[in-house]
Amino acid sequence: MPNQANQPSTHTIPSTYSAPFFQSKDQFIPKFLENICKDFSNDILTLPSLCNLKKLRFDNPNEQPDYSDITIQRLYLLRYAYAYFSEYYYLYDCLFKKYQNNQVKILSIGTGCNIDYYAAYFASIINYVNLDHFGIDIIDWKDKQNLDNYNNFILSDIAKVDLSQFIDTDIIIFPKSLCELPEKTVKAFFKNIQKQSFKCNSIYLISSQRSCYLNQDSTRFNQLVQSFEQIGFTKKKGKIVTAPQNYTSFYHIVNFSYPDHICILLESLAQYCKNINNCPNGKGRGICDTGNQLNRSPMLSPRLMKIEFALVCK
Ligand SMILES: C[S@@+](CC[C@H](N)C(=O)[O-])C[C@H]1O[C@@H](n2cnc3c(N)ncnc32)[C@H](O)[C@@H]1O
Repeated sequence: MPNQANQPSTHTIPSTYSAPFFQSKDQFIPKFLENICKDFSNDILTLPSLCNLKKLRFDNPNEQPDYSDITIQRLYLLRYAYAYFSEYYYLYDCLFKKYQNNQVKILSIGTGCNIDYYAAYFASIINYVNLDHFGIDIIDWKDKQNLDNYNNFILSDIAKVDLSQFIDTDIIIFPKSLCELPEKTVKAFFKNIQKQSFKCNSIYLISSQRSCYLNQDSTRFNQLVQSFEQIGFTKKKGKIVTAPQNYTSFYHIVNFSYPDHICILLESLAQYCKNINNCPNGKGRGICDTGNQLNRSPMLSPRLMKIEFALVCK
């Protein structure tokens, strides 16, 4: 079981893996997916059934996944890491053009397996940016990778994190996380922001949105901007970034494809359930009740990509 943060104190812990040096995203992400796939394949062989995964939906606002379950983490990564990495890479590559030859400090809220960090890392290399990334999450995801001796992961509920250590941050990002935070947590976090004396004269606020939560995401994003307005910042720019019309796959952004064999595994996942012929809710031999939820393709198209950002300045 991964650690879960239930202590009010925050602490920085080293990332789980020490990975070899990767020169480019084209080497790193395929290797990352291959490793996850290997572990996930072992996981599903040992599970008595895949019912737990069958119930899993990442687009159901009424029932969020149990991210403390390692097999669920891995299925999430196999379905979405390629897409989300591409989105964040697109975003950071654009943004870092403004910071060339400078230091950038990023605070990532609900960082999960650090996908936005990997994207920031590779975008920082090609844009000559000196990166200082801090990721906070209530769950210590198992397969986090250690690029460039990264050890800025903070295991904490964001409602309880000491924000005074981030008053010099340049970017605050919610990578697919703003909509998933409990209402009470979001309120506490925004209140906490209003108590800080931020040092930077301008801060980028970013939320990479999930299509199923667009309204909630935007409402909360406006509240985030208002929290900064209450402490003397003014919103200078606001924008929603989507993928260019002619981008039909994430290949257009990252220039490498999702591995075919992992795609096939995900699309035929139901057949690995040992209980499929005896499924109490099944619709006959070999037919799982919600088998379609198991057999789902990874996200490959940027059709739903939507990143909201605002620049707030003193
Ligand atoms: C949809 S996942 C996004 C993960 C990752 N940022 C990504 O791009 O894939 C939402 C994340 O928010 C985290 N989260 C939920 N409630 C939280 C809280 N109160 N404090 C910190 N993180 C939280 C979850 O543990 C999960 O890792």
